[in-house]
Amino acid sequence: MRLIISPDYDQCSQWAADYVAYKIKAARPTESKPFVMAVPAGSSPLGMFERLINMFRKGKLSFQNVVIFNMDEYVGLSPEDEHSYHYFLWKNFFDHIDIKKKNVHLLNGQTTDFAKECTAYEKLIRSYGGIDLLIGGIGGDGHIAFNEPGSSLASRTRVKALNKNTIKANARFFGNDINAVPKNVLTIGIATIMDAKEVMIIASGDRKANALQHAVEGGINHMCPISILQMHPHALIVCDDEATSELKAETVRLFKDNEEVKMPQRKK
Ligand code: GLP
Repeated sequence: MRLIISPDYDQCSQWAADYVAYKIKAARPTESKPFVMAVPAGSSPLGMFERLINMFRKGKLSFQNVVIFNMDEYVGLSPEDEHSYHYFLWKNFFDHIDIKKKNVHLLNGQTTDFAKECTAYEKLIRSYGGIDLLIGGIGGDGHIAFNEPGSSLASRTRVKALNKNTIKANARFFGNDINAVPKNVLTIGIATIMDAKEVMIIASGDRKANALQHAVEGGINHMCPISILQMHPHALIVCDDEATSELKAETVRLFKDNEEVKMPQRKK
């Protein structure tokens, strides 16, 4: 695992955006061999989206041959509903870049056949040869996408009910009205995430400190789903100083040292 520690959210977002741009360019994607990404909704990726949009506007990056999947969606919300992740991702990212509509694949929260929707989603991911770079945020309890504590570490895309903590945490997007938050969601599973060739997590602020501490220093456990990344061959967590506040000073030093050693090699 790589832990990239930046002083603040802005620098975290810059690192994440630069990395995405580097990966897309390095892949030299074509129409028949696109670069496949998964992106989260939520506040964590917003700074990265903004920077990727700027790179596109300046002509430095194109998404013409990029395919994007999303991680999760609320059940029952239409794509036009401003609380849906569908709406959120188009408004904050896709509407501002040159991605082709046919290359955007989002879970349909309005489906009435959950099993069919989820199986088809997994199949579609496989049809592209899997996800090259999966980008995620984390919940304060270590959830990833909507895989909350207690989720099977072998789970796949499925429908599930949200726990009270997540409903409370996400009420901020629903005018702080807990009753307005949908109780059921569609989410890719932990096994779906682990299948991605590379996973990059963005974690910012002290709200994420406990989850990050468990993910990095704790054992792998379904009560902190993000901890499964210890088993991923290419996982990186981009975080800021505040998010590392529960880590041991020794852990922080180790990962900072690792990056210092890597830096000159990457510049070659
Ligand atoms: C949610 C979403 C996740 C998101 C996480 C963190 O519950 N389902 O996809 O990554 O919370 O959200 P935020 O980035 O707003 O802190």
